Formats: sequence, structure tokens, C-alpha cells
Amino acid sequence: MAAAVMGVSQASQADTGHYDDWVVRAFALMTVVWGVVGMLAGVWIAAQLAWPELNFGIPWLSYGRLRPLHTNAVIFAFGGCALFASAYYVVQRTCHTRLFAPGLAALTFWGWQLVIVAAAISLPLGYTSGKEYAELEWPIDILITLVWVSFAVVFFGTVGTRRVRHIYVANWFFGAFIIAVALLHVVNSAAIPAGWMKSYSAYAGVQDAMIQWWYGHNAVGFFLTAGFLGMMYYFIPKQAERPVYSYRLSIVHFWALIFTYMWAGPHHLHYTALPDWTQSVGMVFSLILLAPSWGGMINGVMTLSGAWHKLRDDPILRFLIVSLSFYGMSTFEGPMMSIKTVNALSHYTDWTVGHVHSGALGWVGLITMGTMYHLIPKLFGQRSMHSVRAIEVHFWLATIGIVLYIAAMWIAGVMQGLMWRATNVDGTLTYTFVESVKATYPFYVLRLAGGLLYLSGMLVMAWNTFMTVRHGRPVQVRVLQAAHA
Ligand code: HEM
Ligand code: HEM
Repeated sequence: MAAAVMGVSQASQADTGHYDDWVVRAFALMTVVWGVVGMLAGVWIAAQLAWPELNFGIPWLSYGRLRPLHTNAVIFAFGGCALFASAYYVVQRTCHTRLFAPGLAALTFWGWQLVIVAAAISLPLGYTSGKEYAELEWPIDILITLVWVSFAVVFFGTVGTRRVRHIYVANWFFGAFIIAVALLHVVNSAAIPAGWMKSYSAYAGVQDAMIQWWYGHNAVGFFLTAGFLGMMYYFIPKQAERPVYSYRLSIVHFWALIFTYMWAGPHHLHYTALPDWTQSVGMVFSLILLAPSWGGMINGVMTLSGAWHKLRDDPILRFLIVSLSFYGMSTFEGPMMSIKTVNALSHYTDWTVGHVHSGALGWVGLITMGTMYHLIPKLFGQRSMHSVRAIEVHFWLATIGIVLYIAAMWIAGVMQGLMWRATNVDGTLTYTFVESVKATYPFYVLRLAGGLLYLSGMLVMAWNTFMTVRHGRPVQVRVLQAAHA
């Protein structure tokens, strides 16, 4: 139970060798590298929205090609590497055993980097399936499937060969994330090839849209949420040196969350050709989703009960806990935006982009950074990061950056929605579309400023990581000793 994460060994005393941390180290370092790359792409496209001529007339620098490059880099490269690193680390520590098939784990590392490089080349060249968050063409999709199946074999193989009876809750979240992403990827990417880098979806019309947003929403639910909740359930108790607030709540949280997410996808297709009842089902399940989301947030935050003072001088804990407050914010906002009448205002506007980044920068970004600050020194035999002061600086750069970004997008979004629907007494539109674009300009510049702050925080992290690794050395941790690490 909670003992497993708090480090009380329930394993037998047999010598089981060392943890397979090579792959954890490799994924952890690449998280930082891809974080810088993906956010740089984000800053670039944010600048292009304010000054479109920044594409310099070069097709592969055009907004339409760099935008999917940004989303793929931050979600699958930055977020993905963090998820691989933490899943491999947590499953070994909580199962008191080494990785099952470490050779296959190494293959997942190289395979995943290959997928990222293939994306970084093919997207700017203009190859795309046109499905959001699933833009990569079919040969790359097959590679993703191979890597993911290997990931599942390593992860579940390790759980299967565990030396404790109990399966700690973080592993349930990682496990659900791995299974759901496999299912989503295989179903949504089904396509008929029409050349090496061209394919047509296996689905047509509104069915295609429905499958795409079943995928898209569950990519949020399982890739950007369930996996990171796995991180939360291990690293917050570790960093706070407190057991999870309520283990029972974590189990209810798990089952309620994974059941509910699956049905909410249609909220991306309000007022479309999708049957009306389907949209309503999506809306109702989105509203229900508020409960498990907040249950999880409360469980994470309350883990600090009796240790609130630690927030004052532990910047890593601050990253972890503030990430949960952004998680709470975006999972309150999401259900509200799924209400049809609210969505009538928010859809197509920058409000959606604001919502996305309160989840992405606030929740996914901050929990990843906190986790990496906890992990990296451990993996390189150091007591802490090279500079704790730099972690502090990073925290403030990131937090102020997020606030600027999301506040700018909220104001811009509501303004756009209201301008587009405003009519004169004779029924004509009050504003032309271009007037709304002009009115948005200052907010795009403000968002760019927020993005630059967030990126500069990431650069501070990259420097701090480099210094920590330079002064440290990869350590081998014995399986039983590490239960107390
Ligand atoms: C320096 C930080 C970042 C900046 C400046 C930035 C900027 C942007 C911009 C300008 C867009 C396009 C918005 C539009 O089309 O109107 C965008 C889209 C997006 N970004 Fe970021 N981003 C950053 C970090 C991140 C991170 C860390 C994540 C995920 C973990 C993320 C996930 C996304 C997603 C999912 C979209 C698509 C949103 C949609 O379709 O509604 N971004 N970003
Ligand atoms: C209870 C949880 C949540 C619900 C019910 C929810 C609901 C929604 C709704 C209604 C939209 C707008 C759809 C549209 O008008 O097109 C949306 C967009 C989006 N949300 Fe959430 N949201 C939730 C949590 C999150 C979190 C935590 C994240 C990020 C980590 C996130 C990422 C996104 C993304 C990326 C989009 C944009 C998709 C696109 O159009 O490309 N959501 N969400």
C-alpha cells in the first residue's frame, strides 16, 4: 500500500541486483532537451500569429506546418519522454524488482527518439494525415505501434514479476495510460495507404470526426492526464515525505476517471453533423468528469496535510502542488466549456487555446518539471540539483509565464466570441472578421511574452540539468537499498 511508495520494503531479502536506470536516465535527459525544442516551436508560432511574415516565405517554416510540430514535440516528445522515464522508474521501485526485458526497454528509447526525429522532418515537409494530434503518416504510425507494444511488454512484465503482492496505485494509472493509448492509436490511425507518405482514413464523414475526437479527447484523458496522475501519486508523497492522503480515494479516483473519460469526446463536436443526442451524452459525461478530477486533485494536495510548511522552502514541492491547482482549474473550466451554450461562445476562439495551455503549461508542464527535479539528481548520484536557487527562479518564470499566457487567451477568446455574434438591429453583423483579428493583436503579443518567460524557465532548467549531470555520475542502485532511496 502506501508503504510501497514511502519506501518500507516488503520484499524478500534476496539479492536481486541493480535497477535498470540507464533507460530512465536517457528518457529524463531527453525530456529536458525536447522541452526546450517544443517550447521554442511554440514561441515561434506565437510570434507568427502576431507577425505572420516570420515565416520568411519559406513553406516549411509556415504556421500550418510548424503548429503540428509544436504540438507533437511538446505532447509526445517532452511529455512522452517524461512518462516513459517516470513509468520505468516508478514500476521498478514499487514492484521491488528490475525491469522485465531491459533490452526491449532500450529499444523503446531509441524507437521513440526515431519517431520524434521522423516527426520533426516529415511535418515541416508538409506530410500529414490531417488528424489533429495524430498527424504522422502511416509508416511512422507503425513504428509507434511497435514501440508502444514493447513499452507494454516491459511495463506489464515488470508488474507481473513484482516481489510485493500489492500493485501501487501509480502503476494502475500508468497501466491504464499504456493500454488506452494503444487502443486509441490503433483505431484512430487505421488508414489505407496511397503511397509511402500518403494515406486515407479508414473512416468517412461524421464517423471519421467522431473517431478522431474520441481519440483526441482521450489523448488528453490518458496521455496528458492518467500518466501524469501516475507521476503525481508517486512523486508528491516522495517529495513531501508523507503517505498519500487517502489510498481508498485514489482507487475510486482511478476507476471513476478512466470510465468517464471514454465517453466525453463528442464535446469537441458540438453543433456539427454529429447526432444531437451524442453531443448531449458527451456534455453530460464531461460534467460528471469534474468529480473524479477534483477527487484526484484533492487527494494530491491533501497529501501535504501537516507538512504545508514545506512549501515555503522546497521549490520542487511547489512545482508539484501548483501543477495540481492548474489541474483543478482546467478540469473545472473543461466541463463548463462542454456545456453547449457556453461552447457556442468559446468554440473556434482563443478561449480554447487558453484552456489547453492552463492544462498543458500548468498541469503537464509543472508536474513534469517537479518530477524531473526530483529524479535527475538521484539518477546521477547527487543530493540535489546543482542550483536550488535556479529551481526557484524557474518556478517563478514558469508561473508568471502561464498567468500571462492564459489570461491573454481568455480575454481574447471571450472578446472574439462576443464580436462574432454581435448583430445590429437590422440583423447585419456589427464587426467584420478582420476587426476581431485586429482587436486580438495586443493579446497575441502578451501571449508571446508569457511564452518567452515559460521558455526561459525551461532554459534555466536545461543549464541546471547540464551542471548536475556534469558534476555527478550515473549510479547503480541495488534493488533492496533503493526501496529506501
Ligand atoms: C513556451 C511555451 C508554449 C507556447 C508559447 C505555446 C504556444 C502555442 C501556440 C501559439 C499555439 C497555437 C494556437 C493557435 O492555433 O491559435 C499552441 C497550440 C497548442 N499547444 Fe502550445 N505553447 C507552449 C507550450 C505548450 C506545452 C508545454 C504543451 C503541452 C504539454 C502545449 C500544447 C499545445 C496544444 C495541445 C496546442 C493545440 C491547441 C488547440 O488546438 O486548441 N503547448 N501553442
Ligand atoms: C474534466 C476535464 C476536461 C474537460 C471536460 C475538458 C473539456 C474540453 C472542452 C469542452 C474543450 C473545447 C472543445 C471545443 O470547443 O472544440 C476542450 C479542449 C481541449 N482540452 Fe480540455 N477538458 C478537460 C481537461 C483538460 C486538460 C487537463 C487538458 C490538458 C492537459 C485539456 C486539453 C485540451 C485540449 C488540448 C483541447 C483542444 C483540442 C483541440 O481542439 O485541438 N483538457 N476541453
